[in-house]
Amino acid sequence: MDAIDVIVTKREGGRLSPEQIDWVIDAYTRGEVAEEQMSALAMAILLNGMDRAEVARWTEAMIRSGERMDWSVLDRPTTDKHSTGGVGDKITLPLAPLVAACGAAVPQLSGRGLGHTGGTLDKLESISGWRASLSTGEMLRVLRDTGAVVCAAGGGLAPADRKLYALRDVTGTVESIPLIASSIMSKKIAEGTGALVLDVKVGSGAFMKTVEHARELAATMVAIGADHGVRTVALLTAMDRPLGRAVGNALEVAEAVQVLAGGGPPDVVELTLTLAREMLAAAGVDGKDPADALADGSAMDVWRRMISAQGGDPDAELPVARESHVVTAPATGVLTRLDAYGVGVAAWRLGAGRARKEDPVSFGAGALCHAAPGERVTAGQPLLTLYADDAARFPRALAALDGAVEIVPDGAPDLLPLVIDRIA
Ligand code: URA
Repeated sequence: MDAIDVIVTKREGGRLSPEQIDWVIDAYTRGEVAEEQMSALAMAILLNGMDRAEVARWTEAMIRSGERMDWSVLDRPTTDKHSTGGVGDKITLPLAPLVAACGAAVPQLSGRGLGHTGGTLDKLESISGWRASLSTGEMLRVLRDTGAVVCAAGGGLAPADRKLYALRDVTGTVESIPLIASSIMSKKIAEGTGALVLDVKVGSGAFMKTVEHARELAATMVAIGADHGVRTVALLTAMDRPLGRAVGNALEVAEAVQVLAGGGPPDVVELTLTLAREMLAAAGVDGKDPADALADGSAMDVWRRMISAQGGDPDAELPVARESHVVTAPATGVLTRLDAYGVGVAAWRLGAGRARKEDPVSFGAGALCHAAPGERVTAGQPLLTLYADDAARFPRALAALDGAVEIVPDGAPDLLPLVIDRIA
């Protein structure tokens, strides 16, 4: 096999054979195919696509580049959720313990935030003592003891994807639906879950800006899941405004704990319950209803045990940023727009996110939204509170909010429904 033949096949719009795919992924992982060759192939795939059989084989080859976890020793079925990422998306935090409280096991490997979207591990690390890195043995122990584990993926899981994702990031080839779908699914399938619910976000704060693109990504991922024996369902959900009221690591943990305590913003509660029911159904678990597990405190009990099992103190005070700045409503009327991307970039500039993988995050930084689109506001009332460790960050965060807020004297916002579609 020759890398140039593989590149030229795709450049000319041809189908890659299973042998070409297996060879190129393996040779790239071993360093035999050069970065510039893989970069040319990724661009050819971005421009010419891959069909279902190619995507399935590409995903399989990336899974085979590393280990595949196996949870068959557990006495309950496994189920997981993956979100394509958004602003204020803290759903994993209440969801994993909630689903565990209803009878399934949740082995979730999560990531860190990059750019304007947050990462689950950064959020959980704002809890004093909580540890993201676990060995497979530790994961199994936490899963057995509590029913849910959320931790970082080790280097042995889909190493081909790790290398390829870093390359795509710097070669303008992230936005290829077959490459995104195979990247996400290779990690989720290697994680060993039996069932998977995908939360594909749509809107300004998401990867996928339109329903049409999100639907194509969702259908591609659902097909990959089916081809690998993982029961997979996708929901398309709104990311044109932030999810909930809190954006930023510790702020989002506090909001997740409110949900587990039976409160929290209605959209966060609704999406948590919807995803929990989908995860349980996909795993074939027909036990307690998730709403009951929130109401009777059993989901909160699992949360506390899950945090403690990874060294965290569920009772510790969460970090609070040193400085705050209140943004007030410039007019009286209906808030018709609170743009997810604008709020996400503001939180990022306040220190909640990172520009490069190695950067630290500020746990207390972020934004609290005091009104949601559709609500009436009065001129001068607090609309957002911004939090940062250094007040010098406020001007650039405020600049990101320019145009993100719209208030009209009367009228209704043109918002995406919270759950837009379901693809199975
Ligand atoms: N997330 C991933 O894991 N991979 C992609 O390609 C895009 C988002």
